Formats: sequence, structure tokens, C-alpha cells
Amino acid sequence: MRKPFVAGNWKMNTDSHTSVNLAEKIASVSSETADQSVSVAVFPPFVYLQMVFKALSVSNVAVGAQDFYFEQNGAFTGEISALMLKDIGCTYVLCGHSERRHVIGETDELINKKVTAAISGGLLPILCVGELLEERKADKTNEVITRQTKKGLAGLNAEKVSAVTMAYEPVWAIGTGLTATPQQAQEAHDFIRKLLAEMYDAQLAEEIRILYGGSVKPDNAAELMCQQDVDGVLVGGASLKADDFSVIIRAAV
Ligand code: 13P
Repeated sequence: MRKPFVAGNWKMNTDSHTSVNLAEKIASVSSETADQSVSVAVFPPFVYLQMVFKALSVSNVAVGAQDFYFEQNGAFTGEISALMLKDIGCTYVLCGHSERRHVIGETDELINKKVTAAISGGLLPILCVGELLEERKADKTNEVITRQTKKGLAGLNAEKVSAVTMAYEPVWAIGTGLTATPQQAQEAHDFIRKLLAEMYDAQLAEEIRILYGGSVKPDNAAELMCQQDVDGVLVGGASLKADDFSVIIRAAV
């Protein structure tokens, strides 16, 4: 049985005041649901991670980072390592988010190094995959998902991959208000699960959580999470509003 997972990716938003305020509100919702039946995590900008930890300390909300660099330490000006994130208490890290692929220019090879380094560093990576609109129109969704998944997980055995959460985030649905229909999400998730079964084994594929991301809102979260292979959501915009994020958390319970 896969435990539902609701994750909030704050992206490059909030400031020192609003990040703490948002975290405090999320902490109070999560203690009110007082329920271990859903995993909740937030991904604030690096500079607010520790403040957010403090604000969430009495809750069971986990904290993750939006990115990191795959080396452990050294002359990599401006970068943050998995060790540093682990040191301050991070549980998760996003890898291969579409904004890092398509805006920053990260390749599948770099993403694979990050997934590998995250696991060795004791973090739980969330590997994001998803097609562009033109790729969907050209019927290449499954091809893109296959490439990003296989390259993202290259060289990792089943034991290591069991630390991974997958996220299907169709790029055309991110920040656009266009959401994949529950059927489109289910089809892609089912495809990813079957691909993992082929790459590893059926049991691993059954156990891995696959989140959906792309314009998840309070009014569509429940329907998406009702789908058999949608194990939770990775929320952008709506995770910045405590009330909206709370409704989404409750929809997962
Ligand atoms: P939106 O929910 O704003 O579309 O963002 C989704 C996303 O990219 C989560 O990582």
C-alpha cells in the first residue's frame, strides 16, 4: 500500500517573513489532521530552509531542497551539496524538475549524477519527468518519459531506486492552469510503473510512489489522486497559499 504524498514546491517565491508564516500555517493543518496517513513535504528556497525547519519543528511535515550539486564539497562556487542539505535536516530533494531541464539547461546525464549523489548522501530524490506540449502533440510522451526515467536512474540498482519517488509533470501543465485530465495522468503513471517493472521488478514498481504535478489546485486534487497510480501531488502555485495547500493535503487523506 503506497502512502499518499503531498509536496509543495515553492520555487523562487516567498521571503523570510512569508516563508515562516506559510510553514507555521501548514504545521497547524498537519497537526490538526494529526494523521500519519499522508506524507507532507515542502521545498522552500535554500536561504529559508532553516527558518522553515524551525517553524515546522513540532509537525510531521518534512522539508526538502529544490536542487543541489552532485559533488560532496570543494571548489564549486555557489553550489550546495547533498551533505549540507542532510546536515541541516533535509529529507528530500527534487531532481530533474522541468524548470531546471528547460530553463537552466540541465541534461539527463547531470540529473542522473544528482539522483545518484542524493541517494549516496542519504537524501530521498524526487525524479521529475514529463513531456513538452509539442512532444505530446507529436505522440512522443511515452518516448520522453522512457528516456528521462532510464537516463535519470542509470546505474542504480533496485535497492537504491527504492529510495526514489517519481513525479510526472507534463511541462505544458506547469504554471499554465492547464491540468492533465485524471485519465491522462493515470495513463502516464501506469506507463511509468510498467516501465519500472521492466527495468527492475514488479514489487519495486508497485512500491514506488508516483506523484502528479502541473496546475494541481484544491478543486482538481481529489480527482487526480483517486486514480489508481497517482500516489500524490507535487504542487507549485497552490502550495504558496496555506488554505489551498491544506485542502490538497486533506484531499489525500
Ligand atoms: P504549478 O502547480 O504551479 O503548475 O507547478 C507545478 C510544479 O512545477 C511543481 O513542481
